[in-house]
Amino acid sequence: MISKNTLINLAELEELVEKSLDKTTLAPSHFDYYRGGAADELTMKRNCQAFAEISIWPRMLVDISKRDMSLSLAGQEIDMPIVIAPTAFQALAHSQGELATAAAAKKLNTIMTLSTLSNHDIEEVAKAGNHLWYQLYVYKDRAITKDLVARAEANNYKALVVTVDSPVLGRRERDIRNHFTLPPGLRAANLEKFALGNIKNNKNDSNNNNQDSDLASYIASLYDTSLTWKDLEWIISLTKLPVLVKGVLRGDDAIKAVAAGAKGIIVSNHGGRQLDTTISTIEALPGIIAAIEKANSSNSNTLVEVLLDGGIRRGTDILKALAMGAKAVMIGRPVLWGLALSGQSGVEAVLNLLKSEFDLAMALSGCGNLAAITSDLISREK
Ligand code: FNR
Ligand code: LAC
Repeated sequence: MISKNTLINLAELEELVEKSLDKTTLAPSHFDYYRGGAADELTMKRNCQAFAEISIWPRMLVDISKRDMSLSLAGQEIDMPIVIAPTAFQALAHSQGELATAAAAKKLNTIMTLSTLSNHDIEEVAKAGNHLWYQLYVYKDRAITKDLVARAEANNYKALVVTVDSPVLGRRERDIRNHFTLPPGLRAANLEKFALGNIKNNKNDSNNNNQDSDLASYIASLYDTSLTWKDLEWIISLTKLPVLVKGVLRGDDAIKAVAAGAKGIIVSNHGGRQLDTTISTIEALPGIIAAIEKANSSNSNTLVEVLLDGGIRRGTDILKALAMGAKAVMIGRPVLWGLALSGQSGVEAVLNLLKSEFDLAMALSGCGNLAAITSDLISREK
């Protein structure tokens, strides 16, 4: 169990998990899968460093005795602008996996996004959670996509998150070295009904040069690499749910997403796990915000919301992202570390820690509510 004394900040939590792997269900090669990024892991590090290069200009003598960080996001009323990003295979960290994460998000009244590649399926997680979004990977077989979207909708998921930065998997050298695979018994549960739950199922993969991890060859053989913005229109036509597009880094792509009918953009480089040396997400944010402001001003019916993930480890990171125009942030790895240490209560501890750091950042910069977090609160040093 995490005691209040051990969980001082999220960087230390990651170190603590790495040092105490023997006390968790997380094997060293699975820690590497969670922890790692693509190639030299430069983007993964940049995501965090870029926040350090932004300064806060706090306002003094503002009445901050009452502080409110609640908001409405894609139609959901939630208690904080901190949302759980989709991360695959959470049962590597804890037997309850996605069920524990969904229950923690419910307790804190925020959103959890379930990955297509989860160990617990859409139906089970629906029973554990409240505000749930479903993250979609698009397989070559379109019947699979239709099925996943219909199941998410039927099980009361509130939005669809379409990840567009992963037609193939990035080069993750830790996973190549470890030949990352799932242990016996763990499956991609949502794909079981299509006999694709086993990630060793790469028999159709003609590109496998035997260097790839099992996950990389599974993805290479099954995901639709021909996907374009036209297909996004098709996905949007399948559902009544709002669709958010995750993995956008360029303003022109954000405009294409909006033109296809997306209701939200998640500025993300997949936690630095896809193309190394891409721009950090906080540096990419201004270009996206400028593009979306233009789109929003020409269409007052539906305001497109912008979220950001990648390297959020401090309450001040959240303040900076919001000051630059994001409506909310998502967190990936920290949730997995909480899960590894103590399941649901560990995820709750992570969410509570970030929430209280963000509350403190609001108080000390003179912000009583989210609307007070304006762009003049920050400056970039470079
Ligand atoms: C991810 N991410 C991810 N994204 C997605 O759309 N579908 C997925 O299945 C996964 N799986 C996944 C597994 C693991 C182990 C990690 C670390 C990440 C990316 C994730 O949603 C998010 O973009 C990043 O994790 C955000 O960066 P931080 O918070 O980890 O720095
Ligand atoms: C990952 C995939 C599954 O980042 O999104 O590992």
